[in-house]
Amino acid sequence: MYELFNIRGKVAVITGAAGVLCSEMARALARAGVKVAILDLNEEQAQAVATEINAAGGTALAVKANVLDKKSLEAAKELIVREYERVDILINGAGGNKKEATADQDQSFFEIPPEAIQWVFNLNFTGAVLTTQVFGKLMVEQEAGVVINISSMAAFTPLTKTISYSAAKAAISNFTQWMAVHFNQNYSPRIRVNAIAPGFFITEQNRYLLLDPETGQPTPRGESVLNHTPMKRYGTPDELIGT
Ligand SMILES: NC(=O)c1ccc[n+]([C@@H]2O[C@H](COP(=O)([O-])OP(=O)(O)OC[C@H]3O[C@@H](n4cnc5c(N)ncnc54)[C@H](O)[C@@H]3O)[C@@H](O)[C@H]2O)c1
Repeated sequence: MYELFNIRGKVAVITGAAGVLCSEMARALARAGVKVAILDLNEEQAQAVATEINAAGGTALAVKANVLDKKSLEAAKELIVREYERVDILINGAGGNKKEATADQDQSFFEIPPEAIQWVFNLNFTGAVLTTQVFGKLMVEQEAGVVINISSMAAFTPLTKTISYSAAKAAISNFTQWMAVHFNQNYSPRIRVNAIAPGFFITEQNRYLLLDPETGQPTPRGESVLNHTPMKRYGTPDELIGT
């Protein structure tokens, strides 16, 4: 039977796959018959996701790696290729924000330390570039592949407070377009580079901004976000799967 969206047997590397959104992507790809490499800095959580997928009949491998360390990414690539022989799909999901890089009542814009700005920018932007350098090279050798970056709605409309995060996600959208053209013109039209731009999902990177830690009720910012969201609620990770 002809199946339009059949991806059975493909190999996907997903960074940040121990996290909330990308672990859901890993589970969904595994259900579709894709072999998934759960690449994350958090080895224990990566192993837990891989174990869960394998127990459910999928094929998953936990790989500890740091997207900001090229040597660590090269070692991860070696391990994955030894196990799965190729890489068809790369999802650059590792990313996030932190309080120190936020302008709020505790710290004005003028006090944000450069290290915090760099930390958030590097994690969200440089991490995706380095990972694409390592796994993209494999795709060039294979003359085929798919790269999916995770941008954010913050790339289109910068969020108040999270200065470096919004800037890094805008950079990811820009890099995605640059990379799509670069691969096509220089290597292969069979390597596609795209990004998705999720809206708001409650995860560790934004919980402190959206929910009051004591009451669990929306903060004024959380209320403002919901008022600007046509469906008046946060997304749930499974809603990203179709995309
Ligand atoms: N949560 C949202 O509302 C939202 C909205 C738009 C985009 N995003 C983006 O989606 C992606 C996933 O976010 P999430 O909300 O699931 O966050 P999460 O914090 O649940 O997951 C992020 C994962 O990245 C891993 N990680 C952090 N630094 C790393 C490093 N140096 N090397 C390897 N792994 C590292 C963490 O261990 C964690 O497992 C991020 O790029 C985030 O910016 C999230």
